Amino acid sequence: MNKRLTLAARPEKGIKVSDFKMETVEIPKLKKNEFLIKVLFLSVAPVMKFYMLDGAGIESPMKIGDTMRGRGVGEVIASNNAEFVVGDIVQGKCGWQEYVVCDGSSYHMMYKVSQRGISYSTALGILGMTGFTSYFGLYKIGALKKGENVLVSAAAGGVGSNVGKLARIKGAKAVGLASTDEKCKILTEKLGYHGAINYKKENVSERIDAFFPDGVDVFFDNVAGAILDTALTKLKRYARVVCCGRISQYENIDGTEYQLKNWHFIYKTRSKMQGFFIYDFEEEFPKAEKEMAQWIKDGKLTFQEDILEGLENMPVALNRLFEKKNVGKQLVRIGLPSN
Ligand SMILES: NC(=O)c1ccc[n+]([C@@H]2O[C@H](COP(=O)([O-])OP(=O)(O)OC[C@H]3O[C@@H](n4cnc5c(N)ncnc54)[C@H](OP(=O)(O)O)[C@@H]3O)[C@@H](O)[C@H]2O)c1
Repeated sequence: MNKRLTLAARPEKGIKVSDFKMETVEIPKLKKNEFLIKVLFLSVAPVMKFYMLDGAGIESPMKIGDTMRGRGVGEVIASNNAEFVVGDIVQGKCGWQEYVVCDGSSYHMMYKVSQRGISYSTALGILGMTGFTSYFGLYKIGALKKGENVLVSAAAGGVGSNVGKLARIKGAKAVGLASTDEKCKILTEKLGYHGAINYKKENVSERIDAFFPDGVDVFFDNVAGAILDTALTKLKRYARVVCCGRISQYENIDGTEYQLKNWHFIYKTRSKMQGFFIYDFEEEFPKAEKEMAQWIKDGKLTFQEDILEGLENMPVALNRLFEKKNVGKQLVRIGLPSN
């Protein structure tokens, strides 16, 4: 039998457990080319709130009753497909469920995970979309150079928690913003940041000036809103603003989005602001994965995961992102591998 969480209601402010319905259904018999995956870990990401909303325009809107969308990593436990055999570890669109039947077609975007002797969870974190977002955001969109100053918002979140070390690897200096002293301590003691700013209780503008008296070369922005507005005033000439995410605005679904006041600093400093979608870099994922895996092996790159247990905790895990509770990549362990 398969347990799955389906969409029961569309979220308003915050995500509720009652927005989902737990169902138990029979696992269908495998047809030609199909294979069965036992899900090991599922990922949560802020964008999932938009999957749940009608007409959000990111992917086709979900219908009430659909299995909640999301990526996972799992083990192939039965197969009629020559390409995906029993024992393979795969990553792709699993949905919020314990087992998933795939036929290898493009919908599930399933690919095999290189087994590099580190936890399979990393295929959803540092060696998956989250890590790739940090890597391509910083190196390609941010075009980071040695000796530069990097400022990062939501620095203790999934994407942000990788950026401090990635900046250090390139010989740059990173300062991160986070909402608590505990997160700030982790930023400097574990995650490679040269400094941290508690944006809830410190004067952000003054603290950026103290760390970077000559300004910021790369602002890696995960939150937008007031933090982005302040950061714009700190840009050096020819700076790059990496528009990765806008989580501070994801609750403003009623048209009350924050209006930037400091646009003119882009003109004044001849800077660039660029958004991106991580799948734009899909062809380069294997190269990034290999490089980051090597850095992990060499001890240059570490990663931070925040793992809850059990499918029933998926709504709680998703909400933790909006409640600012997660430290590092938020994941949920769903099942155990056979070995
Ligand atoms: N462009 C792409 O292709 C792409 C790909 C993946 C992710 N993203 C985006 O990148 C960002 C980071 O993604 P993630 O999965 O790693 O999530 P995440 O950073 O782990 O998100 C949760 C964190 O965001 C911060 N946050 C939550 N609400 C906030 C608010 N109202 N104001 C300011 N900060 C708030 C909190 O950290 P604090 O303690 O710092 O407040 C929280 O712990 C998201 O905006 C996501 O949508 C973009």
